[in-house]
Amino acid sequence: MTDALLDIRRLDAGYLGIPVVHGLDLRVNAGEIVALLGPNGAGKTTTLLTISGLLPVIGGTIGFQGRSIAGARPDVLARRGLAHVPEDRALFMDLTVRENLRLAGGRRAAHTERALAYFPALTDLLRRPAGLLSGGEQQMLALGRALATEPALLMIDEMSLGLAPVIVERLLPVLRRIVDDTGCGILLVEQHVPMALEIADRGYVLSRGRLRVEGTADELGQRYDFVTSSYLGEAPGPAGDQPCADNAGTDPALVDTRCASAGLE
Ligand SMILES: Nc1ncnc2c1ncn2[C@@H]1O[C@H](COP(=O)(O)OP(=O)(O)O)[C@@H](O)[C@H]1O
Ligand SMILES: [Mg+2]
Repeated sequence: MTDALLDIRRLDAGYLGIPVVHGLDLRVNAGEIVALLGPNGAGKTTTLLTISGLLPVIGGTIGFQGRSIAGARPDVLARRGLAHVPEDRALFMDLTVRENLRLAGGRRAAHTERALAYFPALTDLLRRPAGLLSGGEQQMLALGRALATEPALLMIDEMSLGLAPVIVERLLPVLRRIVDDTGCGILLVEQHVPMALEIADRGYVLSRGRLRVEGTADELGQRYDFVTSSYLGEAPGPAGDQPCADNAGTDPALVDTRCASAGLE
């Protein structure tokens, strides 16, 4: 096991013992934002649910802060510093903003203050039920609530889902500030590639449960066409050739080699 904050090796994950994610290798270091990209149904949410202990590991290992966490209970992992903002944000809609924050931070006011420091727009909304907030405000509350637990690793599933681009543009720099201030790592699940590459240090692209390509955000940005074609599992190759992504199995190095030889660099 390396000193990576999150160290996933050959992970098989899925439902009722049937994998939908196959042989995933993924690492997140402290102080970095890592994007997990891929189309609908690629296995991104399944991966996060498995890291969080909400789904059992079918195969492979998950290390967190140098220890194996496969099989650990979600509440234990949360106390150890793993925060998960799920796709549906999982707020208590009938409770106020303040109550949602307090539930997460163990009722300590300092934790609420911490969340408000990053999302000052919530300050005037503390008495409002979460269900009456706009989509952007709800996402701020979900992120603020996760921050209130002082996580070492913050996992965010589809942060931009349902939000106007202008709202997303306001949230992105906050993620960077959180990482710079606290030294935590962020695993950001996104379908929206340009948005994710704008903020991430590195990224992984999943399609149909397999890793298609990984690299720094700059590398993935330069190979934008390849990344987006990976979404379909149909990276274009020369006539008669198999599509790069499907040809390449799970080995990202192989994806790189074959696509370079197909003139896609
Ligand atoms: N509760 C479930 N039971 C069985 N299969 C599921 C369940 N949830 C998701 N899946 C399947 O797992 C695959 C990956 O889904 P998911 O991880 O939600 O993808 P993503 O988050 O990348 O859109 C899909 O084929 C999906 O149909
Ligand atoms: Mg999902």
